[in-house]
Amino acid sequence: MVPTTDIASELIHERVVMQQGTRSGLPIVVAVHSTALGQAIGGCRLAHYPDWRDGLTDALRLSAAMSDKCALAGLPNGGGKTVVALPPGRVLDAAARRSLLHDVGDMIAALDGAYATGPDVGTGPDDMTTIAERTSHTFCRPVPAGGSGDSSQHTAVGVLAALQALCSERFGSAELSRRSFAVLGLGRVGGHVVRILAGTGARLVVSDVDEGKRALADRYGATWTSPPDCLTADVDILVPAALGSVLTPQSVPTLRCAAIAGPANNQLDAPTTADLLHQRDILWAPDIVVSAGGIIHATAVELHHETSTQATTRVRGIADTLTDILRTAGAATSTPAAAARHRAEQRIRHGRLLP
Ligand code: PHE
Repeated sequence: MVPTTDIASELIHERVVMQQGTRSGLPIVVAVHSTALGQAIGGCRLAHYPDWRDGLTDALRLSAAMSDKCALAGLPNGGGKTVVALPPGRVLDAAARRSLLHDVGDMIAALDGAYATGPDVGTGPDDMTTIAERTSHTFCRPVPAGGSGDSSQHTAVGVLAALQALCSERFGSAELSRRSFAVLGLGRVGGHVVRILAGTGARLVVSDVDEGKRALADRYGATWTSPPDCLTADVDILVPAALGSVLTPQSVPTLRCAAIAGPANNQLDAPTTADLLHQRDILWAPDIVVSAGGIIHATAVELHHETSTQATTRVRGIADTLTDILRTAGAATSTPAAAARHRAEQRIRHGRLLP
């Protein structure tokens, strides 16, 4: 779903490059929101949009969120994002995909290190290898190709850490086995989350727009429902793990969960929707904190040469960051969204002052 909010006033980007790929002819947006804390990072999204301008809007919002995500994760990085806006119905064969990824690589190379990309919705580690034929500024190539590999399992580990922290704050115990969850979206990250949650014995309701994912539900003993029923399921915790903007003034009144935490980016259609959740006493864990596992692991391994085990310990630190934000919000009777934004802003401002 494409957000309709007016973003221009709150998002000022350092650099936004929009180009028709020289080989592919496809509209490509590379948005560098901020390099105040260091090189901007953010995935390459390959998705269908009704119009390329919708892809541009998405890139602006997603890259701004990446700046906050990096700041809250304590990384010396800023936020960026690449969006390839595929026209409706357009399917890429292997050769067209390769041409497109080379176009993306050239655009990133022209930014001279201001931005590095990684996998995102619609792209994976192998695509990073192709982009890397044009620029060294990529993360998450497959391990044999010299990268840190698929980031989705690390993002899922971060989500699980966040769910424990959230349960502890909301229900007084971090024990997941006693809780019920509705996982909306069984893509790469959502699939890992369901697998790990199923292992705890928690009660699970799941859905995906792709009916083919029903087998996964069966494998893990989860109840399969339609996406709208999953969103409003009577569970303890909703886990948004698909595309953004699921929390809106229309959907919030229909929710029956007590808390929300998931890896989907930009879950709120607009910042004010956080207030609606707060009024309904639904505790929302900000997506910019919950979804940081992928970037934390990839940067720890690829930039700072840590082992994957050390990096995983860092990913688990998401629990402490979230606990802190939820408590700060509780003490100030503000929303977790406002507390997270405030903290990110402070870090970014502080970073700017450093020599
Ligand atoms: N999808 C990841 C994100 O946007 C992309 C990413 C992973 C970017 C690892 C850089 C490194 O958070």
